[in-house]
Amino acid sequence: MNLRKELAERLEAGLAQVGAKGVPAIVGPATRLEFGDYQANGALAAAKRLGLKPRDLAQRAIDAADLDGIVDRCEVTGPGFISLTVADELLAEASTTTTRPQIGRVVVVDYSHPNLAKEMQVHHLRSTIIGDAVARVLEALGCEVIRQNHVGDWGTGFGRLVAHLNDIGAAAHSGGSSALADLERFYAEASARFETDPAFADRARQVVVDLQAGDPPTLARWRQYIDLSLSHCHAVYDALGVSLKPEHVRGESAYNDDLDGIVADLDAKGLLAESDGARCVFLDEFKGKDGKVVPVIVRKSDGGYLYHSTDLAALRYRADKLRAKRVLYIVDARQSLHFRQLFALAEAAGYGTGVSFEHHPFGAMLGADGRPFKTRRGGGTRLLDLLQEATARARKLVRKKNPELDSAAMDAVARAVGIGAVKYADLSKNRTSDYVFDWQAMLALEGNTAPYLQYAYARIQSLFAKGGVDPSSLSGKPTLREPEEHALALQLARFQETLEQVAATVMPHHLCAYLYDLASAFMRFYESCPVLGSDARDDRLLLCQRTAETLSKGLGLLGIDTVDRM
Ligand code: ARG
Repeated sequence: MNLRKELAERLEAGLAQVGAKGVPAIVGPATRLEFGDYQANGALAAAKRLGLKPRDLAQRAIDAADLDGIVDRCEVTGPGFISLTVADELLAEASTTTTRPQIGRVVVVDYSHPNLAKEMQVHHLRSTIIGDAVARVLEALGCEVIRQNHVGDWGTGFGRLVAHLNDIGAAAHSGGSSALADLERFYAEASARFETDPAFADRARQVVVDLQAGDPPTLARWRQYIDLSLSHCHAVYDALGVSLKPEHVRGESAYNDDLDGIVADLDAKGLLAESDGARCVFLDEFKGKDGKVVPVIVRKSDGGYLYHSTDLAALRYRADKLRAKRVLYIVDARQSLHFRQLFALAEAAGYGTGVSFEHHPFGAMLGADGRPFKTRRGGGTRLLDLLQEATARARKLVRKKNPELDSAAMDAVARAVGIGAVKYADLSKNRTSDYVFDWQAMLALEGNTAPYLQYAYARIQSLFAKGGVDPSSLSGKPTLREPEEHALALQLARFQETLEQVAATVMPHHLCAYLYDLASAFMRFYESCPVLGSDARDDRLLLCQRTAETLSKGLGLLGIDTVDRM
């Protein structure tokens, strides 16, 4: 149940009955749920209109509202807030079983999307992590999520790479793929040759022409490069525990055949104009500083296409072929203008009418020095290096904390903790701002970190082990007695509404904040309410079990594993 929504709707119905229709009830986060922010939500104006004191309006609304079975106590406080105490019965019942209100709704999530010319870099991390968490949450709510990895696999940059591969392949017939084992080096070599060797540069340009003409052997070489580069990506996804699979890849090249048709269609709709030989769309809403409209180029004067053109084809494909109702682009904030133009272009062309296209931007990942983040190894930005460093650091932490773990267990825990820390540090911040990547902070066992939550989970498991309790055998509803038990149960009951909030805002930090509050509520409960030796043992074990389940489910939706011992 979405507790927040349920309470708000019932109060709003009460308000409507007493003449204050349309005044929203804002349900706050505390045990005493308040009908908040009196002035801003128009309650004050409504009271005035009705000739009532705000407190009296609040009282009438409570009297009129049907709060049976959901609220135990209800009173007017302060200038006219409504303070609710959620019914014990309801809290006891609320468990981790989530409802799936968005069954069947098709949502496309466009995330990760590295450029395949190089190996995945640190700056691909945020889109990959955020997009994956969002996709999982939407699925938990019943959406049919279609992941789309819109990789950069086309464009002039591939000319030199394929030309280099051609040369190496000719020099040593089986040497081609091992030369590609280190993609970074291969890329650097190809770039250097392009700069210094004019004959090579000519061959590289010819490759671009051949690629565009669909020359089969050239395409086969290009495929070879792309497949290899993709296998590197999937190694990263595996290391990272990200749910992207080869079948989710639909790169820029997949739209090549649609581009001529798109241009013809835009032309038929009267949207195209010529500017310096290029085919452009002029949209009134995009004016430069001089007040002149800045054109969106869809085809260059040499016939080549741009990022925009491909994205427009992809947008149409997602609306028409994938039947998406919502398309989420999890892309760097620096591309905001691109997406505003893209969506405006789509609207003008009549593509995806009624579909919600949403760019959800995120800021940069900075090092402690405030500059773009670099890894320890050679100060590079290779993503795989960063992940290896995360696991190595976590292993040290785990060894200190629990030296008895055997080596295999230690590896598993180090991986869960290290990768979890990297993901959580990113997900727990409001994604729209830049964030500072700080190993020490993300691996801390105190505070809003993955290790803290994983530790809370492990602590509950060791409690079960100590008491010889099989958590799956626990069932029923707990009786709540102490305030700490109430607080914990209330927090447990708010899981569903948190997921819905993440789905609506595409902001995973709400789920992190929720889990942190849950772990904190659990710690307070645990400190003041003995479990194993108490008369209320069964009730408290149930609360422990639901907490553990919610922690692991919530972390799982963020793509983070839990471990029984750490
Ligand atoms: N490959 C692009 C880049 O690295 C990101 C693609 C984002 N998705 C899209 N549909 N434009 O900049």
